[in-house]
Amino acid sequence: MSKPRILVTRRWPSAVERILSERFDVTLNLRDEAMSVEALRQAMDEYDAILPTVSDKLPAAVFDVVTPRTRILGNFGVGYNHIDTNAAKGRGIVVTNTPDVLTDCTADIAMLLLLTVARRGGEGERQVRSGEWAGWCPTHMIGTKVTGKTVGIIGFGRIGRAFAQRCHFGFGMDVVFYNRSPVDPSDAARYGARQLPTIEEVLALSDFVSLHCPGGAVNRHLMNVGRLAAMKPGAFLINTARGDVVDEVALIAALKDGVIRGAGLDVYAAEPHVPDALKVMENVVLLPHLGSATEETRTAMGIKVVDNVTAFFEGRSPPDRVV
Ligand code: DGY
Repeated sequence: MSKPRILVTRRWPSAVERILSERFDVTLNLRDEAMSVEALRQAMDEYDAILPTVSDKLPAAVFDVVTPRTRILGNFGVGYNHIDTNAAKGRGIVVTNTPDVLTDCTADIAMLLLLTVARRGGEGERQVRSGEWAGWCPTHMIGTKVTGKTVGIIGFGRIGRAFAQRCHFGFGMDVVFYNRSPVDPSDAARYGARQLPTIEEVLALSDFVSLHCPGGAVNRHLMNVGRLAAMKPGAFLINTARGDVVDEVALIAALKDGVIRGAGLDVYAAEPHVPDALKVMENVVLLPHLGSATEETRTAMGIKVVDNVTAFFEGRSPPDRVV
């Protein structure tokens, strides 16, 4: 029997590309350029599986083919709001993702952003590199103390919990969170956290607010003008979730007007575009979507996709099926 034809839309860690190539009839994207919607639509006719990632857009138009050959989308990533899952479902196409393996590294990046923006790490580094540092003095580049402060977490899934654990047990922070469904208080206590009934109550208490909810229509602009104004004056916003969770225009205004003190961002509404207004602000730390970017995690993500598509083509249920 011929091997399933599989399209990998971007370069992956070489160890995983090797395993995929041994098991399947694989087409790699050797130029590593993001594919267009039209190219992905055509691929639906040609491949049994497509393995996309966050840099690919798969709106309903991609699924608009007469009889798609593709039967599974093995997404390389935990977030899948770039895929129109209703359209996939309508065509009977299975979608899988890669949960768990990126939890720690994404929580680490949120902590990195929190510390960097609070302690002015980006500014300091730029000053040293530019040769403008004039030496130590008691009033030089004064930041905000992190230890003992209150952090508010929006979304208490795997990454929210891992971040809570770091904040509470690593930095003695008081951790409050909002989550759509109730979390058993004893479970929350394991992460040093307590649930509050509304986002507004979390915002009112928090010196740092960190977003850990999914992107997509349900949370689009969850942090809007009103919610940014509901943050404590002098608070910081951290976003490692998805760019569309924050209204970027409102965020820029809130930063300019001093409604909040700063922001640490790893994700943006229209990646890789980052608004120029953010790039010139010293009180903002900007990373290029690095949440899961470690050798260990990216390899583990790839292996998860391999496991999912292998299970599918062997007639088993893929372990990380979301549609
Ligand atoms: C994820 O897995 O969702 C990361 O953001 C990379 O896509």
